[in-house]
Amino acid sequence: MRKLLFVTMVVLTGLRGNAQDVSVSKAFFRQGDDMNWARPEMDDASWSEIDITKQWDKQGFPKNNRAYGWYRIHVNIPKSLLSGADQQNVVIFEMPKADDVDECYLNGKLIGSTGRMPTDPAGYFCGVDIVRNYPVDVKKGGIRWDAENVVAVRVYNRGGSGGLFWRPLTLRCPNAAEGLAMQLTEENNGQSRCEVEISCDYASATNGTFTATLTDRETGAKLTSLTKRLSIKRGRPARVSVPYDKHKMCLLTATYTDAKTGKVLSESKQMKYILTPAAPATPRFNNAPLYGVRPGSPIIYRFPVSGEKPMKFACNNLPEGLQLSESEGALSGKIDKPCVLTFTVTAENARGKASQDFTLKVGENMIGLTPPMGWNSWNCFGLSVSQEKVMSSAQALIDKGLADFGYGYINIDDGWEAPERNPDGTIEANEKFPSMKGMIDWLHERGLKFGIYSSPGETSCGGYLGSLDHEQLDAEVWNKWGVDYLKYDWCSYERVREKDNDWGFASCVRPYLLMQKFVRQQPRDIFYSLGPLGGTQVYLWGIYCDGNSWRTAQDIDDTWKSILDVGFRQQAELAKYSSVGHWNDPDMLVVGKVGWGADLRETRLTPDEQYSHITLWTLLASNMLIGCDIAQMDEFTLNLLCNNEVNAINQDILGKQADRDRKEGDIEVWSRPLSDGAIAVGIFNVGDKDLQADMKSFIPSWEPAKTVRDLWRQKDLSADELRCTIPAHGCRYLRVY
Ligand code: GLA
Repeated sequence: MRKLLFVTMVVLTGLRGNAQDVSVSKAFFRQGDDMNWARPEMDDASWSEIDITKQWDKQGFPKNNRAYGWYRIHVNIPKSLLSGADQQNVVIFEMPKADDVDECYLNGKLIGSTGRMPTDPAGYFCGVDIVRNYPVDVKKGGIRWDAENVVAVRVYNRGGSGGLFWRPLTLRCPNAAEGLAMQLTEENNGQSRCEVEISCDYASATNGTFTATLTDRETGAKLTSLTKRLSIKRGRPARVSVPYDKHKMCLLTATYTDAKTGKVLSESKQMKYILTPAAPATPRFNNAPLYGVRPGSPIIYRFPVSGEKPMKFACNNLPEGLQLSESEGALSGKIDKPCVLTFTVTAENARGKASQDFTLKVGENMIGLTPPMGWNSWNCFGLSVSQEKVMSSAQALIDKGLADFGYGYINIDDGWEAPERNPDGTIEANEKFPSMKGMIDWLHERGLKFGIYSSPGETSCGGYLGSLDHEQLDAEVWNKWGVDYLKYDWCSYERVREKDNDWGFASCVRPYLLMQKFVRQQPRDIFYSLGPLGGTQVYLWGIYCDGNSWRTAQDIDDTWKSILDVGFRQQAELAKYSSVGHWNDPDMLVVGKVGWGADLRETRLTPDEQYSHITLWTLLASNMLIGCDIAQMDEFTLNLLCNNEVNAINQDILGKQADRDRKEGDIEVWSRPLSDGAIAVGIFNVGDKDLQADMKSFIPSWEPAKTVRDLWRQKDLSADELRCTIPAHGCRYLRVY
């Protein structure tokens, strides 16, 4: 075996405090994959030398897409590494980055990995930009002291440049208090509390003092303060539960001071706060009293009524051709001729009775008279969507009461398509959807509608089959299955334009017109939603393809940066392109647990940012498609999505989208007129500091005689209450009449 060829000892005194860190930038390298290459005794004499700070293709090796390469780094680890170190339990292996995924073995034993290999059951995940620090236990980690060790790194490269890069491998002991961490997790079901966890990754034991303070951000009042002495062991973190009042804007400041080193961990977090009073137990209709359908199309409509269950629905003057299910309030049937029908639906439970005069418009241009509300699988499950996940989401939509607030579409996004078409050219669902038809029938029986996804290109954005050259067949299959909504994305259609060398406007419109023809030929009402089409302005021509909505921004994510860009920046001045049945769509909602794949996380938006997100989207008359896992939805998110007065702005039958009236410093004012003569006004603080504001000055054509209703709190405001705090990234939502 070659001897310690590439080892360098460097002294980094002052930089990290430890006298002797070990640093190596050379390795032996081979492309290919064999798990035996992890073994320390493996003979790598024939392997090539490589610099681990530059990708393999930058050193003359082939790029090799969707392929593996292995690095073997021979390193002497001197016992003296520990002497004088602040913490001597662990050696940190500071690794280079890996393009895209790595697994790292020390003397044959796995010590860490970043990203996910394509064989991982959770699916490939690129880890290229992630910093890798792998800690190895001094006693149990398998380090050979004062001898040669082999660090073998398996790297997978999906495409482009590949391999290790960025920095050498450095071995060092942790500094004083390094690895101490504090994590805040909120629990918002039932009693609200914040779980604070303080852990130490390296020191075997430590202790210190913890304090938590809760302040009401609106009034500045100090609500609670607690102090505790804590002792923490490696692998046994200390936990403190801090209860808070979910109806106040509680700001938690948690601080931990380590006794030995004096190191202070401190974090402030706005707890989730619920503004909207609970819906009454008596029945309440939460919908616009209007629905549209084309002559002869099957009607699927579920009356959204909140209140205690069971609920009984009835209608004494139900027009011929229609049925109303007594237990779920699901309206079905069909009307063959254009007409306007009115009838009165009643909902009754043990607590009382409510009724609604409802209008059914039957005619040609009647799809989507109010923006669609429902759920789409993309922002939570991404390509890992399955029939089971869709059905459990739909069941949760009903069980958690979202269907009682008008969320009626259950839409799957990309990832349902079989790898190949049938010999007759028809499309099938893949093995994750054992019975598409069965699933859709199940939804329809409950009065819920079903949406599907495709692309005009050869493949979808996720690389699945697209509809190119099969548009009619696909529309027919979807009709047979019972599809009520089509999201038709762009993606690989770009290749058709490239092939035809046709970059004109018409080349964008053509595939959408083609699908429109076949979709509208079906005897079902299919809401036609157009994708974002990289760079082109779909809102300019979407209406000519009879689009019921079109994306007005690229893909959203769960950050304030994205809400600012997709929402506040890109939606300004688009109101003129939106009209009844033809809505602007700034993309799906990012509240709740999202993740675009198998691993879900809490949205990264703060509570204030989430109020702003829903406020702006309802003002914009946008599609309201929930993007999170409904089964895991907490009380806060439910409250955010189930405020009937807020949703009524989105569903207002005048259908006039809000535009930005004013932008003054960090304040933005967006407003829209409503069908009853009132106006809805959102006053947003897009800046990073809470602001004091006199809302009167932001209300368009303000007069003292007007009533100002706070829509989130569902409460009329007194003149005094119009001076208030608008939290950073937050808003106030008003209805003025
Ligand atoms: C595009 C769309 C997303 C989603 C994915 C699916 O990125 O904008 O909303 O549908 O495709 O692959």
